[in-house]
Amino acid sequence: MKTLLYYFTGTGNSLAVAKGICSRLGDCELVPIASAVRTPGPVVPEAGRVGIVSPLYFFGLPSLVADFAGRLDLSRVPYVFSVMTMGGSGGSAALRQLDGILNDGAGKRGLDAGFSVRMPGNYVMMYGSMGERTIAKILQKADRRVEEIADKVNRGVRGKPSWSPFSSLIHGLMYQKFIRGVHEADRKFTVDDRCTSCKTCAGVCPVENIRIVEGRPTWLHHCEQCMACIQLCPTKAIQAGPKTEGRERYRHPGIDVKSLEEQAGRGE
Ligand SMILES: Cc1cc2nc3c(=O)[nH]c(=O)nc-3n(C[C@H](O)[C@H](O)[C@H](O)COP(=O)(O)O)c2cc1C
Ligand code: SF4
Ligand code: SF4
Repeated sequence: MKTLLYYFTGTGNSLAVAKGICSRLGDCELVPIASAVRTPGPVVPEAGRVGIVSPLYFFGLPSLVADFAGRLDLSRVPYVFSVMTMGGSGGSAALRQLDGILNDGAGKRGLDAGFSVRMPGNYVMMYGSMGERTIAKILQKADRRVEEIADKVNRGVRGKPSWSPFSSLIHGLMYQKFIRGVHEADRKFTVDDRCTSCKTCAGVCPVENIRIVEGRPTWLHHCEQCMACIQLCPTKAIQAGPKTEGRERYRHPGIDVKSLEEQAGRGE
């Protein structure tokens, strides 16, 4: 059975999870949402199974993923699932949000199953990367979870995302505020003299929100806040206020810069 797995990623966690699931499903194709959104109009996938893998942002979906979900018509797809990757908790609120968008959308067809996987947190605006050993432990546990999820998908296990009053409250309080300011939040980003004009930041940005002007990045204010530019800059030259200066950077150790560049249709 053919599976189409749509993914969005900033620092590689969701891509690593999507790859892990895809490799266990047989005939499976990975499709970057960042590239798929460029084609206008409804998206009507032809597949026996469709999955959506995304990071969790403030107990909700990245803006791009929410917009893409609104264009998906899954009425002819027999099995639809989603996997949220997250640093801590709150995946159920985003899965419910996605289920609602799909149900209200063109296909009037929501999720059959929703899952969450705990991964290393990447929100450098609030915290730095954990140490290598802690990351390795989290990723080991995540691998087992990915195996469990792929097994459930293979067996066609169904179950609506659970409802948690705590997650719904946080979603209501924090997510709406985050989404209102998300595209303009790059106004906080600055670049310092450590910049070597390597252009990695522009290459890994999934939404072409960075233009290199006179060798330095400038931000175009349609940011998704995925953190890729800050996290992937090899010289730590990008900051978002004074606090990010001393924080360790994070990228999923199994995902290279080229794979992140390919998400936005670059890197060939
Ligand atoms: C803007 C932003 C908001 C986030 N909010 C949450 C959150 O509410 N709860 C959580 O557990 N993790 C949160 N995270 C962490 C990510 O969901 C997590 O690290 C994810 O696996 C990153 O996936 P990626 O590497 O595919 O981008 C947030 C990260 C970002 C960038
Ligand atoms: S990734 Fe860093 S060093 Fe490279 S161009 Fe961007 S800011 Fe400069
Ligand atoms: S500008 Fe940076 S944080 Fe914003 S979407 Fe691009 S890579 Fe992500």
